[in-house]
Amino acid sequence: MHERPPSAPTGTEVRRRELLKATVATGGAAAAAPLLSSAALPEAQAATPPPAAVPVALRVNGAEHRLTLDPRTTLLDALREHLHLTGSKKGCGLGQCGACTVLMDGKRVKSCLSLAALAQGRDITTIEGLAQGEQLHPLQTAFIERDAFQCGYCTPGQIMAGVACIAEGHAGSAQEIRDWMSGNICRCGAYDHIVAAIQDAARQVGRGG
Ligand code: FES
Ligand code: FES
Repeated sequence: MHERPPSAPTGTEVRRRELLKATVATGGAAAAAPLLSSAALPEAQAATPPPAAVPVALRVNGAEHRLTLDPRTTLLDALREHLHLTGSKKGCGLGQCGACTVLMDGKRVKSCLSLAALAQGRDITTIEGLAQGEQLHPLQTAFIERDAFQCGYCTPGQIMAGVACIAEGHAGSAQEIRDWMSGNICRCGAYDHIVAAIQDAARQVGRGG
């Protein structure tokens, strides 16, 4: 259990709190480069002309967006590169790390594996759309209170997956949370604090064990 010191926050602590709040609210300001670079395309594939762009209408965080995209564009790339919602991170691009997790019609999906064109007509929620104005989601607040991250790269995906984990009724115990959050990797090893934050938020909304 991670306990907060009883003394008043120092100036450094206040600044750190502001940084933490920015990270959980928007996924942080740092541009995220892919962790794995694409392998060079085979010559024949590189010479193949791209398919014609198609119109794609996306509803993200309650706002409608009309884009014209290569039909192969992933939802993650549409969010990050076309809508400039960079909170969702590209870790592996292969569905293995969970950094890109968003909600689609309330269910968690790995946006690096979802095609933007197939997300039309769905309600997409990203980390930028979780707070209600200045009011953070209970899980965002719990992440701050529990210091549930270090570098913050995995945090947006952890929070979106955690919101879904609670809504699914899979937050009854620490072990259950670990099992149902196993698709979200944290290279900093902040798992104990992430689980504690999810337990806190689950209890707050009456879905904890
Ligand atoms: Fe790793 Fe999507 S970027 S699962
Ligand atoms: Fe660094 Fe999770 S906080 S990867």
